[in-house]
Amino acid sequence: MLSAEVEDKSFFDSLDIVQDRGQSVVAQVGSTYYEGLESPILLAQDTSGGCGGMIWEAANVMIEYFIWKQKESEDFLTNKTVIELGSGTGLVGLIIAKIYSKVNKVILTDQLPMMNLMLENIKLNKLEHLVQAEILNWGEEIPNELSNVDVILASDCVYLEIAFIPLIETLLALSTKDTLIYLAYKKRRKADKRFFQLAKKKFEFTEVMDDPKREEYNRQSLKLFVFKRK
Ligand SMILES: C[S@@+](CC[C@H](N)C(=O)[O-])C[C@H]1O[C@@H](n2cnc3c(N)ncnc32)[C@H](O)[C@@H]1O
Repeated sequence: MLSAEVEDKSFFDSLDIVQDRGQSVVAQVGSTYYEGLESPILLAQDTSGGCGGMIWEAANVMIEYFIWKQKESEDFLTNKTVIELGSGTGLVGLIIAKIYSKVNKVILTDQLPMMNLMLENIKLNKLEHLVQAEILNWGEEIPNELSNVDVILASDCVYLEIAFIPLIETLLALSTKDTLIYLAYKKRRKADKRFFQLAKKKFEFTEVMDDPKREEYNRQSLKLFVFKRK
């Protein structure tokens, strides 16, 4: 089930430029809109606590796919517990909660410096009844309250070599054979290949083929994968 393209050397070897965003966003609150949403999302961004304080490119892939998916299959996440890893601003999880109103709950997670931003964004969008924010450092023990999840989301979390193994450990610790893991990825450097090689030992993964914007995003080196535990 492993995507042929991941195994294809050219997938990573064709690119050896490092295109780090290296951007910063001064604390600001604005509104963000995606086609298909009933109303915009209010979003505080602030990179003073870390790079996650702004919207990264892969987040858009995940968001647009889940907006489309909800129109195709309204009950897709009904009664499901969704956890987002490396949430940063929390935008992806907030939009999931906004459009899948029958979700059981959405848990945004990140490291301590992102906590206030996630809490602020939950509050700005009045989503406290569906969304909570928790600290979760990859590679560390999973708190009990986070241990029963149905769906895991990770957008732009494959970007830091030292975090590849901890991220895989957390994906393993949080998942069972039934857990769906969606990973949105921006190809920036060859070293990322290592993450997929390591992940392949424990997970089966493939590109999400029903994404209507797949080809458009692929042209921008963006891919949405779905992983399942072997
Ligand atoms: C590139 S940002 C992506 C943010 C957001 N998911 C998005 O797509 O806009 C990566 C996120 O992973 C988080 N992160 C990095 N290393 C982590 C670790 N070891 N444990 C938990 N979170 C981590 C960062 O704090 C940051 O919010």
